[in-house]
Amino acid sequence: MRLIEVENYQEMSEKVCQLMINRITDLTKPVLGLATGSTPERLYQLLVEVNQKDVVSFQDVTTFNLDEYIGLEATDPNSYRYYMNDKLFNHIDIPDEQTHIPNGRADDSEQECARYEALIQQVGGIDIQLLGLGLNGHIGFNEPGTSFKQKTHVVELEESTRKANARFFESIDDVPTHAITMGINTIMQSKEIMLMVSGEKKAGALDRLLNGEVTEEFPASILNEHDHVTIVADKAALLTSSKTK
Ligand code: F6R
Repeated sequence: MRLIEVENYQEMSEKVCQLMINRITDLTKPVLGLATGSTPERLYQLLVEVNQKDVVSFQDVTTFNLDEYIGLEATDPNSYRYYMNDKLFNHIDIPDEQTHIPNGRADDSEQECARYEALIQQVGGIDIQLLGLGLNGHIGFNEPGTSFKQKTHVVELEESTRKANARFFESIDDVPTHAITMGINTIMQSKEIMLMVSGEKKAGALDRLLNGEVTEEFPASILNEHDHVTIVADKAALLTSSKTK
């Protein structure tokens, strides 16, 4: 694993933006795996800026998001489809049909998982998967205890994850209880993974990822077994890890 330490959130976002521009430019038909949440928000603003300045084009880019809540319409401001359209897709030159997010309103969620997984295979897999880190070590919505062998699947969200995400909803009761997520196996098949970690509250999780054992009880720990992972983390997130080194 390559660890890049940066000063702060802004620098983390700039660094990942630069890495992504390089890859998008190098590949003929780049396939990106994307995440939602607070961590990549600034990155997406920067990608919009560079696209609008013609530094990079997304016309040949295909994207697959990690996850989506079950039960929310694409027009619901809390759905991940809404988030991605609002923060990135609506402002860049990517054709709509090249952006993929699991359909949280599908009649049959299991079938939707299989369709999504097959679609990823059809385009030849993900070139660069962007990840954020959950406080409990989740990646995508793969909660502690999820088998490393899982492909795209339906999950019941942990109370702690629903609480962490409740800030976006009117109340915790409005946070969906289930989601569709790429599985750990899907994520691990990506050719390259970029993990963004920022802020003191992530320090414990990052420390466990860097210094702890590989266990299904801490899903992100599997990244230690991937050949091409870059972690871009700021000083605050690395506080605990540097103390133990
Ligand atoms: C988002 C996702 C999650 C987040 C994680 C960190 O699509 O799959 O795993 O990356 O919960 O969230 P933030 O960035 O809000 O701290």
